[in-house]
Amino acid sequence: MDAIVALCRRRGFIFQSSEIYGGINGFWDYGPLGVELKRNLKDAWWHDMVKCPPEGPDGHPVDMVGVDCTIIMNPKVWIASGHVAGFNDPMRDCKTEGCKGRFRADQIQQYQCPLKPSKCPGEFEKCQLTDARQFNLMFESHAGAIKDEASKVYLRPETAQGIFANFRNVVDTSRVKVPFGIAQQGKAFRNEVTPRNYTFRSREFEQMEIEFFIRPESAKDYYTFWRDLRYNWWQSIGLAGENLQLREHDKDELSHYAKEGAGTSDVEYRFPFTAPGFGELEGIAHRTDFDLRAHAEHSGLGDRLKYFDQEKNEKYFPHVIEPSAGADRGTLALLCEAYTPDESRPSKVYMKFHPRMAPIKAGVFPLVNKDGMPEIAHKLYMDLRSRWNIEYDPKQSIGKRYARMDEAGTPYCFTIDGETPGSNTVTVRERDTQSQQRIAIDKVKAFLAEKIG
Ligand code: GAP
Repeated sequence: MDAIVALCRRRGFIFQSSEIYGGINGFWDYGPLGVELKRNLKDAWWHDMVKCPPEGPDGHPVDMVGVDCTIIMNPKVWIASGHVAGFNDPMRDCKTEGCKGRFRADQIQQYQCPLKPSKCPGEFEKCQLTDARQFNLMFESHAGAIKDEASKVYLRPETAQGIFANFRNVVDTSRVKVPFGIAQQGKAFRNEVTPRNYTFRSREFEQMEIEFFIRPESAKDYYTFWRDLRYNWWQSIGLAGENLQLREHDKDELSHYAKEGAGTSDVEYRFPFTAPGFGELEGIAHRTDFDLRAHAEHSGLGDRLKYFDQEKNEKYFPHVIEPSAGADRGTLALLCEAYTPDESRPSKVYMKFHPRMAPIKAGVFPLVNKDGMPEIAHKLYMDLRSRWNIEYDPKQSIGKRYARMDEAGTPYCFTIDGETPGSNTVTVRERDTQSQQRIAIDKVKAFLAEKIG
């Protein structure tokens, strides 16, 4: 993991937030390569889940629309959802002289004593640990000039509630009919007791959530459908090996809303810091009608928040299947999966991203800066750039330029050399095999389109 973190820092994937001031625990910034990688992940999700979802279990195209809701909402939302009363982690502090350690009580077996790092995890018998106290994970702020109880607001700890709060608006303004889904991507905030494992557990992170509204009796079918679709999707973007798994929850792990449901499962990835175990990338849960009912009650709207089925002339609270994924955890999994040591290369490592996820799709290099090569390279670069993220690099030896692209995970490099002006061909170098072939310069665009899409 240290090597991955070092590469991410060195090549501009991920930086500590506010690094020039010593950073801030639990907050991370994405640099020029990282922002492209994360955007590719989010765009692929939006494209595949919202714009072009497949057929559902009933054989009809899945109906999906999107929303983009605010981070700060009326605080009553969080009372209704149960977050004000119940979104807590148990916390224990260490009162031993000079320690000031703070731990999640339910994960204490995983921690080491900060004063005695040589101790095995969970060995706290000589430490002065307080009893567990409940700690609410929601960040608080105040809306308006006066800071009192009445102006208290929360930064959303999940994007899901913005969807539930807009259920009526979406049904009234679009042509959706149950079964249908509402999707949202956006920031969520949790004041995690112990943020750790790089971006895996951060205090500010991004979610990609779908609330899929269904008739209660079809819960099992849609739960299975979404569980499998989401697992296959992570595979399709490059997490295809045995580091990915789908895990059905045990009954005692289920959240309050899922107890009566058709199921809950996690898509998990074996991160270097969880190995041999796995860490959650996404949860797929049957949330029943818990949230819509809660908002109907707390908003006073009651039955007016029910869905009206015109064909059946029936009003009811739809049930919900929720696939809820983390964009930062997904990005981290892509980085870990791509990291491929290779002693035979000048860079000693390359990032084997799926071409669809690669931050830079191709490099365009003039071999030397003379004999018309830069002009041809520049023209090719401008042509490709209209469609993909392309890097033009005229500096240093060609070996060093390939090495930089290997570390960035760029799948193809096109080099304009001495033969190009006469033959109208360029070399294309493939990242994974390092093999090179010559292709016609006017076929480069079609070549990339075929390889990358
Ligand atoms: N609406 C349901 C919900 O929020 P969750 O399991 O608490 O469920 C969903 O969160 C996803 O959000 C997780 O699978 C994970 O990918 C991401 N996530 C949750 N807490 C996170 C944190 N502190 N840092 C980074 N990602 C987080």
